Amino acid sequence: MKKIVTLFGLLALLLSCSGNPQEPAASVSFDSVLATRRSVRSYDATKSVSEAQVREILAAAQEAPSWANQQPSKYYVAVSPEKVRALQELIGPRNKENVAGAPVLIVSTFERGKSGFFRDTPSNEIGDGWGAYDNGLSNAYFILKARAMGFDTLIMGFRESEPIRTLFGIPENEEVMAVIALGYRAGEPNQPQHRKLDEIARFF
Ligand SMILES: Cc1cc2nc3c(=O)[nH]c(=O)nc-3n(C[C@H](O)[C@H](O)[C@H](O)COP(=O)(O)O)c2cc1C
Repeated sequence: MKKIVTLFGLLALLLSCSGNPQEPAASVSFDSVLATRRSVRSYDATKSVSEAQVREILAAAQEAPSWANQQPSKYYVAVSPEKVRALQELIGPRNKENVAGAPVLIVSTFERGKSGFFRDTPSNEIGDGWGAYDNGLSNAYFILKARAMGFDTLIMGFRESEPIRTLFGIPENEEVMAVIALGYRAGEPNQPQHRKLDEIARFF
């Protein structure tokens, strides 16, 4: 009996150690999501992401706050190899090379004239900047949820908006913002320095 218990103990230990440390489990702490999320520029082309997993990430993005709950963000998800290949051509050669192995590419847009507007009038000087603000918040939820699920991302602001609009049939009242790569890191990403707190915050 003692032998069986020891065997089970060993098995449990092996299973608990077998996870990839780069891929945190669903119950991973928020701080470790923040600490391990990086802009990843090399993806493992042998690993796929299912539509159900993308939907789970997008559902988290849906939880983001937005101006008067306008929720102006929209997502156009390229999962088929043809659409992914077509979109790869519209993000510039450097980005194309960096996300070559990413199985999913996503275009993020926001509807103009919603956030920051009361009826058709801008509420203040920021105007549609509030739509871009809300879109960035939504994208932040997206990339953090993705990391919590063990995925990696790259937000790309370098992209050709008009051909992308045509490729996905994006209406004229939407502003094409970032393209986001989603997949698994192929190696350890760069750890760029972030500015010191005292450089960006002043307390009064
Ligand atoms: C709006 C925006 C646009 C970006 N565009 C690109 C891009 O086109 N190509 C790229 O390699 N990285 C891009 N990045 C990633 C940044 O370079 C990266 O976030 C920054 O260097 C900090 O690194 P980290 O995300 O690993 O902390 C973009 C990030 C943001 C938020």
